[in-house]
Amino acid sequence: MNATIDQIKTEALRELASAVDRDAVGEIAVRYLGRKGRVTQYLRHISQLPSEERPLAGKRANELKNFLSAEIEAATRRLQAEALKRVEEIDVSLPGRPCFSGALHPITQTTREICAIFNRLGFETVEGPQVETDYYNFEALNIPKNHPAREMQDTFYVSENVVLRTHTSPIQVRIMAQRQPPVRIIAPGKVYRCDSDLTHTPMFHQVEGLMVDRKVSFGDLKGILTTFVQQIFDPETSVRFRPSFFPFTEPSAEVDIRCVICRGNGCRVCSQTGWLEVLGSGMVHPAVFENVGYDTRAYTGFAFGMGIERIAMLKYQIDDIRRFFENDSRFLRQF
Ligand code: FA5
Ligand code: MG
Repeated sequence: MNATIDQIKTEALRELASAVDRDAVGEIAVRYLGRKGRVTQYLRHISQLPSEERPLAGKRANELKNFLSAEIEAATRRLQAEALKRVEEIDVSLPGRPCFSGALHPITQTTREICAIFNRLGFETVEGPQVETDYYNFEALNIPKNHPAREMQDTFYVSENVVLRTHTSPIQVRIMAQRQPPVRIIAPGKVYRCDSDLTHTPMFHQVEGLMVDRKVSFGDLKGILTTFVQQIFDPETSVRFRPSFFPFTEPSAEVDIRCVICRGNGCRVCSQTGWLEVLGSGMVHPAVFENVGYDTRAYTGFAFGMGIERIAMLKYQIDDIRRFFENDSRFLRQF
């Protein structure tokens, strides 16, 4: 029986030496000194020993109990001190780990910048529906039934007479149908076309502009759009008005700027021409005024439309339009 006391002691000490934290020591205390612990059970079993063995066994068992209590307390204190030391080793003067905050998408930023420029020129920001009728998207804009833009390969049809708008120009018509001149609006929004490559995505953004009043001239169009281009890019930017065609404007012009990459010397981005197309524009076609009931003898106006991704790509020199829609935060964080 003496050997057993020694065994219990040896095992308890071995377990204490390998305990890694205070919880482990607590478990050891329960296992040896708890109500069903090995030392406690040993003490209980002493009454069954022959009477001559009892005094020595009792004495040794009590000694072990006291000894283990002291060892357990010492181990607890030692592990507590070690844990405290580890906490003190944390360098509180180290800089914190940065957490990234959200920000506006570059297209949202560019949209707001474009609208702010026109707001300062007296244009009011308005919006229109993305699901549009054939009438507002095409018919009222003098786009005839056989026009190629109406083909299924270019337009997403919802039903025979309902489309996802292919441009922001229907907003012009909706506003003119509601208001009498003078009208000065700027209308940003999403538009949709069956189109996908390096410079085209099936959904993209446009901004439409419209100004109607007595005596609005092509000179006003040139002045406003030159001011806009020089504010969104830089004040030295050269602008060129190139004759073009849209069914809803006459005359029509595409607005080009001097290539922001090569400054006009010719490069891959401008296809060696030195110029980049940034927007379409023109004087509102009389047929459009007639569709909304405006007096074509009293009023004239100009309209324009631009791709917002296009403006952002030129402004930030981005070569692939799809970057805007991949939501790679390494790209988005740069703006
Ligand atoms: C129009 O959409 C006319 N509504 C613009 C207009 C308005 C002219 C008012 C006159 C008066 P266009 O189809 O060229 O025009 O598109 C205008 C711009 O949208 C283009 O210059 C281009 O920057 C952008 N764009 C066109 N298709 C895509 C596409 N799939 N992805 C990204 N941008 C596009
Ligand atoms: Mg075009």
